[in-house]
Amino acid sequence: MTRAVFSPAAGSTVEQWPDVDLSTSLGSLDLPAPVLTASGCAAAGRELDQFFDITALGGIVTKSVMLQPRSGRATPRMAETPSGMLNSIGLQGPGIDQFIEKDLAWLDQRGARTIVSIAGSNVDEYSKLAQKLRNVPGIAGIEVNISCPNVENRGLVFACQPDSASSVIQAVRRFSDPKMPILAKLSPDVTDISEIAHAVVRAGATGISVMNTTLGMVINTDTMRPALAGVTGGLSGPAIRPIAVRCVWQIRKALPDVPILGMGGIRTGQDAFQFILAGASAVSVGTVVFNDPSAPLRIQHELAQQLSDHGFSRLRDAVSYAHREADADIVVDIDEEYEVE
Ligand SMILES: Cc1cc2nc3c(=O)[nH]c(=O)nc-3n(C[C@H](O)[C@H](O)[C@H](O)COP(=O)(O)O)c2cc1C
Repeated sequence: MTRAVFSPAAGSTVEQWPDVDLSTSLGSLDLPAPVLTASGCAAAGRELDQFFDITALGGIVTKSVMLQPRSGRATPRMAETPSGMLNSIGLQGPGIDQFIEKDLAWLDQRGARTIVSIAGSNVDEYSKLAQKLRNVPGIAGIEVNISCPNVENRGLVFACQPDSASSVIQAVRRFSDPKMPILAKLSPDVTDISEIAHAVVRAGATGISVMNTTLGMVINTDTMRPALAGVTGGLSGPAIRPIAVRCVWQIRKALPDVPILGMGGIRTGQDAFQFILAGASAVSVGTVVFNDPSAPLRIQHELAQQLSDHGFSRLRDAVSYAHREADADIVVDIDEEYEVE
């Protein structure tokens, strides 16, 4: 495993970054650094590469690709919310064949570690996507976006039921290279996220990506109608961060050995540090990229600083650190842990 060595970005006034070993892994997926892009927020990384060297990140998680090209939902498809945004893009994209030919080929030639995100409308589509990706060079892992409506089951979102979530992961596992790392991306819109995590791991997921956006809605008070053409949309950004940290924490508690890629509202290295302490081995950065395209690399540097400031020389030692036994002088009532007012 190579050790990530950071030098300040061009033009940076910072003299030196702390000497922290940022290498990490998500199961069999070894990463030299812990920050990745979040699916759908950086396309296939090409635009970000104008702002910083994308190969310095842990990896690029590409926009979820479907079997066929899609134009997405009608506009408006974005709405601002306090500390976040609502989107209903509708998985616009070129379809898997063009994605492999253009985007994946570019990422491979660029030397980025690429996690390909896939999405389908039924289990068969996920199987076909896995078959298309099999033996294609330049894929470090597959992230399976299961926050999609299952057209064969009244449009119920796969990620919201253990059975449908596991049937998708089983299909992708079956048709993928047995050594291919597979991350199941979960939705927070469930009663018990660890139940879904258990189901997808039993079905063959190597690790968990958490979380996708949470369902929200905005009414435009001028038109007195829903602000989005799709009526509801996915809420992302800092507003959802505490929900995401809670999801990481609960999954880590339920499945201590399953690697987690954490995300949701990360804007700074300190935010990312929370996810690491809660149990994530790596993090994805999404919405912040829309107003700060250099954010993923900045956050990676800031995370190194956070780790150093807290006495960690290796990121791996900080993963799940918040779960350690309570210090003797702090009294914690375990029964109160999940209590709410
Ligand atoms: C505009 C937009 C598009 C997104 N598209 C996808 C997608 O294609 N697949 C997916 O799994 N998640 C998608 N997401 C969810 C993000 O990957 C991420 O899970 C979520 O936004 C939380 O992280 P953030 O608050 O840092 O953005 C999208 C989010 C946004 C804002």
